[in-house]
Amino acid sequence: MRSGAAPAPRRPWQGRHLVLGVTGGIAAYKVAQLGRDLTQLGALVDVVLTRAAREFIGPVTFEALTGRPVFHDIFEPGHALDHIRLAREADLVCVAPATADFLARAAAGRADDLLTAILLATRAPVLLCPAMNDRMYAHAQTQANLRHLHQALGYEILGPALGPLAFGEGEGPGRLEEPDVMAETIGRALEGDTPYRGRSLVVTAGPTREALDPVRFLSNRSSGRMGFALAAAAWRRGAGVLLVSGPTLLEPPPGPRLQRVETAEEMTAAVRAALPGADALLMAAAVADFRPAGRAGQKIKKEAMPTAIDLEPAPDVLVCTQDAWPRGLAVVGFALETGDGLASARRKLKSKNLDLVVLNSALEPGAGFEVDTNRVVMLGRDGREDALPLLSKHAVAEAVLDRLETLLPKRA
Ligand code: CTP
Repeated sequence: MRSGAAPAPRRPWQGRHLVLGVTGGIAAYKVAQLGRDLTQLGALVDVVLTRAAREFIGPVTFEALTGRPVFHDIFEPGHALDHIRLAREADLVCVAPATADFLARAAAGRADDLLTAILLATRAPVLLCPAMNDRMYAHAQTQANLRHLHQALGYEILGPALGPLAFGEGEGPGRLEEPDVMAETIGRALEGDTPYRGRSLVVTAGPTREALDPVRFLSNRSSGRMGFALAAAAWRRGAGVLLVSGPTLLEPPPGPRLQRVETAEEMTAAVRAALPGADALLMAAAVADFRPAGRAGQKIKKEAMPTAIDLEPAPDVLVCTQDAWPRGLAVVGFALETGDGLASARRKLKSKNLDLVVLNSALEPGAGFEVDTNRVVMLGRDGREDALPLLSKHAVAEAVLDRLETLLPKRA
């Protein structure tokens, strides 16, 4: 989590048992953050340290961050069956960092310490996050081990990422993935098989900007949070996601492909290009309805200040792309209202040919722009209207995806 605030417990981590195996690499310090993030998301994190890991980081750090005992010694009296219990309880086993030596031992099927014994005993999905010196990573034996672990044993491999390496070793593949990328990938694995797996979704987010001159523009207060939360949640559920976003200050969620745009026209073009093969379009962006008619080529000087700005309609993305909607495309619109929302949202459902409208009020405290929460009503083409309580935007995203599940086109 890159923000400082503690996140509320969330699907799919909440209440899930994770074994977090840590092996002996310098990147072990990053895994302390991962253990903390997963715990804050509601997971029960059992950390297992190898002997080499304890040269880099101690059990007390993990005990304090996870609030649970840390395991390391398979031969400690009274702990003889830890590997069986942990292996059985785990919903997922993640090893980070996974060193070259650990990969070799895992590929060979060794069970000479607690972590390798758990790997052999578990039936849970396994995620390995390698991190090592780039030449050790490139070595044919390490590559062969990774291929075997993935292809023959079905383990998922995340990374390593490119970047500066330890000990002034320059740049190369070998860096441990960032904690938020690991947490999201664990989330995707915990989701398992969902109706979104293998689907293709287009999600828009944020405001658009319509230029008045090279330095000034018309825009709105959309932060992009709702669209970003939807894109992250859909990716976690297994979809391929293109996130088309207007300008925002948010960190892109790991997983979805991000395409940045500025104007309503650019957003229309980006959505149109992404539509072939799409299963759903979620228009969470607050697209401009109007824009300055004509853009000054130079900055408008104070002396030449116009007394009025001429406006013209901006393209309506939903309306302008309808000719390119693939058969069965599920379309979700978002209506932000300040007046009689329900009547207006019902009208938009029909006039924009939507399957679902998510209505929220810009005037209600805790809902709408620039806040982390939202109170919405979901109105379906089938006439069903669900009013949800005040929820985090993450929880609203999950509720929208739950409802959208049944509206997705039938699989071929
Ligand atoms: N929308 C769009 N293109 C626009 C404006 C809106 O695609 N130029 C989409 C929004 O992304 C949203 C839906 O249309 O999913 C409803 O947006 P909203 O602004 O509430 O409705 P409008 O149709 O623009 O009507 P009004 O602003 O008059 O309420």
